[in-house]
This record gives sequence, structure tokens and C-alpha cells, in this order.
Amino acid sequence: MHASDITPRAVYEDRRSLLRGAAAAGLGALMPAGLLAQSARPGVLAALEARKSTVPGALSVDKPTRYQDASTYNNFYEFGTDKADPARNAHTLKTTPWAVEVGGLVKKPATFGLEDLLKLSPMEERVYRLRCVEGWSMVIPWVGYSLAELIKRVEPLGSAKYLEFVSLADPKTMPFVGSRTLDWPYAEGLRLDEARHPLTLLAFGMYGEILPKQNGAPVRIVVPWKYGFKSAKSIVKIRFTENQPGTAWNKAAANEYGFYSNVNPSVDHPRWSQATERRIGEDGLFDKRRKTLMFNGYEAEVGQLYAGMDLQKFY
Ligand code: MTE
Repeated sequence: MHASDITPRAVYEDRRSLLRGAAAAGLGALMPAGLLAQSARPGVLAALEARKSTVPGALSVDKPTRYQDASTYNNFYEFGTDKADPARNAHTLKTTPWAVEVGGLVKKPATFGLEDLLKLSPMEERVYRLRCVEGWSMVIPWVGYSLAELIKRVEPLGSAKYLEFVSLADPKTMPFVGSRTLDWPYAEGLRLDEARHPLTLLAFGMYGEILPKQNGAPVRIVVPWKYGFKSAKSIVKIRFTENQPGTAWNKAAANEYGFYSNVNPSVDHPRWSQATERRIGEDGLFDKRRKTLMFNGYEAEVGQLYAGMDLQKFY
């Protein structure tokens, strides 16, 4: 599987020639793939090979967003609140060494080094739609594997009902940790059955390469049927709990951001409608807003997780 399968050919070739240039300069010689130091310039990161996913719904046919847009229009509040801030500021993030501590209500708690996580299960490419709560969306070819693979390894206890994901909060390398925007560290949560759903991804890369720092390097969560803020970046801890964990956005504004946060065009945000979205890269003379789909278009795959639930109440 190659990025060429999903990236417009001209863009791909341009990037490959940059990569060849980097290889020729000897940059790739010493380190294994996936562990290369990251460059601030998109398109020159280490390749991360992956096979195409066979998980139902994992390969959206929508045209992928340009890498240039996906890596420069970001929300990563640890590096600032402007969309351009993460690409500008995230170079200070230190992604090696990196480890993710997995604990709480599990039989086998463990701290996984990044190298071990990269080898835990075969890498897959997943082309997911990402719908931000702010009303824009992108289509991103991620590289990773189902979070369920990691969950299996630690053997959750019968009492475990939820997972909490905690992002790094290092005031030395993340200039906005300490600002009053959010209660740091950034934390998110899922119900155990949501976390185990095969579409829930532990992502290490995008567009055939390791993640750029602004997109949550070296490892993040991606939950395609929920608003983007559920997909915590640069995670260092996963905790299994009996009670629903608190989340950063829910603590900041409980009436605006619930625990579930499933994409739902019929439940308005208190300050705006969620019925339509703007696909980044499609802007132009005409406002081509698209209709937002229930569960971001993943209803066939995930709808049964919420059977019988009042989604107005559990927003
Ligand atoms: N994770 C952390 N740690 N900090 C953040 O500010 N922003 C969230 C989510 N994960 C955020 C985060 C929001 S609001 C969105 S829309 C997505 O990341 C954006 O992911 P992307 O930049 O890769 O598109």
C-alpha cells in the first residue's frame, strides 16, 4: 500500500522526490522507519508503510484533503488557539522518547514504549472524514491500527466501563499549557464498547508518513463518527475506569460539549447549527457547504452502539 493510492498523483510525486532528496542526504540511514526526527516542513517526514484497511467503513471514497491543508489548519490548543499556531509552534514538542501508560481497571497494566506500540499490530491505512464541532471537515488518510488491539493486550476487568485518554501537558515544550483556555492536561473519554469498535483508531501517521507534530505526533486517537475534539492528540496515558471520566471540553463548557459528542446534524450546538459543514479545500467563489451526515456518515457501522439512547439528552 502506498500513499500514491490515495494522494493526487502530482502531489505525491512532488513529495516523494523531496523524500528521496532527504534519503540521499543521508537523513534516513541510521534510524528505523517511524523513528526519524521530524522536520518542520510537511512532506518530508519518515514513511510509515501500511496495508489498506479491510474494516467496514474505513476507506472513505471522498477525496482526501491536501496534506498542506491538513497539516496547517489545526486545533491543538497546547500550541495556541489560532488554526495556524500548531504548525508554527509545535516544533518544540519532543516526541522521542515517548511512552503510553495504560492502567486502571485492567488485569495487565503496562507502559508501552513507542517502538513497541509501532510493532503491536500491522499498520493500516484508514481514510476517515473528520468533522470538527466548529463546522468544518477534512478527509484524512491516517495510518494506525484499531485501538481494540491495544485494549486486548491489557485485559480490561469486568468493572471497566470507560476509557480516559490523557494528552501530554508539558509547559516547557507546549507554550499554551498553563493558559486558562482549558483545564490541562487535555483529556477525553469513550465508553469501552466505543473504544473497542474497530473504527476507533490508534494513529501514528497520515498520508503514508509519521504524524507531523501539529497533528498529534507521535500517537493519537481518531474516532471518525464523533466531533474532532474527541480525538486526543499526543497521548501519554490511557486509563480504564468504572465511572464516566471528566473531559477537558466538558469541564470548560458542559452545556456545549457533552461526553458523547457524536456528529449529529439534528442536535444544534447552543451557539450554532450543526446541520452543514465546510470541507476544507473546497472553499472558493461559491459557498459549497455540505450537509452533515448522522454519525458523520458512519451510521451503518456504529449506530447500534446507541440503540435506544436519547441522543438529544446524551449529546
Ligand atoms: N488534542 C489535544 N491534545 N489538544 C487539542 O487542542 N483539539 C481537538 C483534537 N485533539 C485538540 C486535540 C480538535 S478540536 C480537533 S478538531 C482535532 O484534534 C483536530 O485534529 P487535526 O489537527 O489532526 O485535524
